[in-house]
Amino acid sequence: MAQEKQKDAAGLWSGRFDEPVSELVKRFTASVGFDRRLAKFDIDGSLAHARMLHKVEILSAADLAAIENGLEKISAEILAGEFEWSIDREDVHMNIESRLTQLAGDAGKRLHTARSRNDQVATDIRLYLRAAIDEIAVLVRTAQRALLDLADRHTDTVMPGFTHMQVAQPVSYAHHLMAYFEMLSRDAQRLADCRKRVNRLPLGSAALAGTTFQIDRLLVAKELGFDGVCENSLDAVSDRDFAIEFCAAGALVMTHLSRFCEEIIIWMNPRFAFVDLADRFCTGSSIMPQKKNPDVPELIRGKTGRVNGHLVALLTLMKAQPLAYNKDNQEDKEPLFDTVDTLTASLRVFGDMLGGIKVNPDAMREAALEGYATATDLADYLVKKGLPFRAAHEAVAQAVKFAEERGCDLAALDLAELKKFSPLIDEDVFAALTLDGALAARSHLGGTAPARVKAAIAKGRKSIA
Ligand code: ARG
Repeated sequence: MAQEKQKDAAGLWSGRFDEPVSELVKRFTASVGFDRRLAKFDIDGSLAHARMLHKVEILSAADLAAIENGLEKISAEILAGEFEWSIDREDVHMNIESRLTQLAGDAGKRLHTARSRNDQVATDIRLYLRAAIDEIAVLVRTAQRALLDLADRHTDTVMPGFTHMQVAQPVSYAHHLMAYFEMLSRDAQRLADCRKRVNRLPLGSAALAGTTFQIDRLLVAKELGFDGVCENSLDAVSDRDFAIEFCAAGALVMTHLSRFCEEIIIWMNPRFAFVDLADRFCTGSSIMPQKKNPDVPELIRGKTGRVNGHLVALLTLMKAQPLAYNKDNQEDKEPLFDTVDTLTASLRVFGDMLGGIKVNPDAMREAALEGYATATDLADYLVKKGLPFRAAHEAVAQAVKFAEERGCDLAALDLAELKKFSPLIDEDVFAALTLDGALAARSHLGGTAPARVKAAIAKGRKSIA
């Protein structure tokens, strides 16, 4: 005991070492500055481990009670901000264990029986990530609900749909919004799928090869709400696939938000004026008094870059790493934490921002009238009258050229003028050439007809209820 105290004071790992690590190395290797975020999960994991050790008669009832009381006190200290974190004890695991030993004596020293920090940290991250995924899934749903609410009000709002950023065909703004609803639905599915692989227990794998103690891993898994255990101890301590999968799912969430945000930014420009964003999501300029800048969507767009970066960081971290645990893996935490933080903050403000979008249906309609958005409808009209599609395509191209020279829309040409491009054109052509006619005609599954979009919204609402 006296000897142990001496070692502690000298900052030695164990009797195996002749000198403590240098100050520089201590600061370089310490992770407590960031992994203390795992404290709650570290304690939950330790409690489950200790209870199992008692159940299989490795730990006495008195020791278990001392550990439980000690960990409860530590939890309270951490919550109250009174816990003394120290880089002398490297990481969250050793900080907590060393405080537990102060509080519970030998019982605290027994907690690490049949366990290593390698399976401990893998367990902590999985518990942390599981909770984070559950929180993010709720935020995705909230954003989806906000999309539905906005879409509800705009099934009959016509805007130009774009390809190549050029006016293509008219669509309902609600239909456009529902495209994002679909993206977020896939995001929710991906997160739920990733959660299945997160939710496996590594604990019991010890350092890499398992342990000589007759432990009950299934009991620990059940206690911690895991769906099962990691089946191979070497894989369990070294696998970080689940973190990579999460970051990949997160990168896609951010990609989707960034696409929407980019459109808001462009559409807010007075040249478009399709939408305006409530002032609470914008800022002014310190020099240009007239400015109203879409900072919120710009920042979400910008933050997509860091999440993509974290995904690449984790992939690179794991590339060519030999089995089993390597200290490299300590580098998994900051990218993961920042991905969670960025996603959480972005989704929260994104959902809020959707409620601050003011739509200008007149500007949308006007723009849809400008780019010959119903040219395809005229071609389809001719096909329905018997003309082969390629011939119809050419006839309409001529008509568009003519209208362009006139500086007017197709619907502004009179019947005699239109007939020059095809004798098949009749009075009924004008219904096909209106924006509302063009929308209503696309009434098939997945189409932009207002009635169909209303059904899609109802289906979407049901899917997230
Ligand atoms: N702080 C370490 C990490 O984050 C805990 C595991 C350390 N294990 C070890 N053998 N050095 O990965």
